[in-house]
Amino acid sequence: MAGGFGAAADEATRLRAAAMAAGRAPSILNTQPWRWRLRGDELDLYAVRSRRVDSIDPEGRLLTVSCGAALHHARVALAAAGREPAVTRCPDPGDPDLLARMRVAGPHEVRPEDRDDERSIGRRRSDRRPFPATEPVPDETLAALEAAATGEGAWLHRVGPEQIAFLVTAGEGAASIQGRDEAYSSDLHAWTRRGHASGEGVPPETVVSPTERRVPLRDFTLDGESLLEPGYGDDRYAQYLIVATDGDRPLDWLRAGEAVSAVWLAATSRGLAGSAMSDVVEVPGARALLTGLLDRHGYPQLVLRFGLDMQQRRPPASPRQPPASTIEIGDGAAQP
Ligand SMILES: Cc1cc2nc3c(=O)[nH]c(=O)nc-3n(C[C@H](O)[C@H](O)[C@H](O)COP(=O)(O)O)c2cc1C
Repeated sequence: MAGGFGAAADEATRLRAAAMAAGRAPSILNTQPWRWRLRGDELDLYAVRSRRVDSIDPEGRLLTVSCGAALHHARVALAAAGREPAVTRCPDPGDPDLLARMRVAGPHEVRPEDRDDERSIGRRRSDRRPFPATEPVPDETLAALEAAATGEGAWLHRVGPEQIAFLVTAGEGAASIQGRDEAYSSDLHAWTRRGHASGEGVPPETVVSPTERRVPLRDFTLDGESLLEPGYGDDRYAQYLIVATDGDRPLDWLRAGEAVSAVWLAATSRGLAGSAMSDVVEVPGARALLTGLLDRHGYPQLVLRFGLDMQQRRPPASPRQPPASTIEIGDGAAQP
């Protein structure tokens, strides 16, 4: 048989490299709620429910969106390695934790966009500082981001200037409800005080104290601790994008996550800085308000904010779990 065992081993090596690249994906509170299992020439993606943040994500929607982002990162890495990924999403109705199964369908002709996306996996970071840009995100860039989302089975809604006040109201409503919820405070505290060595959570040096800006962001600085200088921006030209889907089931959440990754990587390649906002989709009333902003029927899954990247320094990178904790090889054997 052409290729034989050597070729199969090569594919397994590439799949493993893809799972490693997926570790850089964004996730809710940097929980990295995924586990990969590599068996022969198949790579399975599992949701890790024990990493769900109960107070803000009782259904596991944001957990599944996060896993979708990891899946897209893995697809990008495989394509950039010259291999066409074949993905079956939610392949086993009896096992809802098995979110996707990926294999190599054959060779893939590597395009410049594949290389750009792969490079952006290493460069992308949440930048929560107010953007100092003095001009808006160009229209053709926004069109490219919209195409990236559509390509993943989701879509983007550009929040127009006349809708900003509603986004602010949604954020304020979410903050007020969550601010009174002890379980929320305790979850936020736990996931922002992990320490770098833990390889997870949102480190204080990646968040900024509340500053004057058009649309306030989630306040991560519970006890005032934040080490990242906000700089001189005011978010005047920030563009807010709602990632939305036609349906609101686990498969839609997974696809929304793939779209989040596709959009964020495309934005990074095009010189944008950005961060995500999920407080406005965590609280049902705020999410309903966002639903009303959409110009067609759909479900908001996440808000992304982008601006031209004009800061002199990049924000620090957040830690990640070692591959041995997230990738299993064979039947239960952790990777060396
Ligand atoms: C589903 C989802 C929800 C998120 N919600 C927020 C949020 O509300 N506020 C925020 O600043 N970042 C949010 N993020 C970004 C994560 O906090 C971030 O990806 C993670 O801490 C890792 O940092 P990095 O993006 O710099 O790699 C979210 C990301 C995902 C995928």
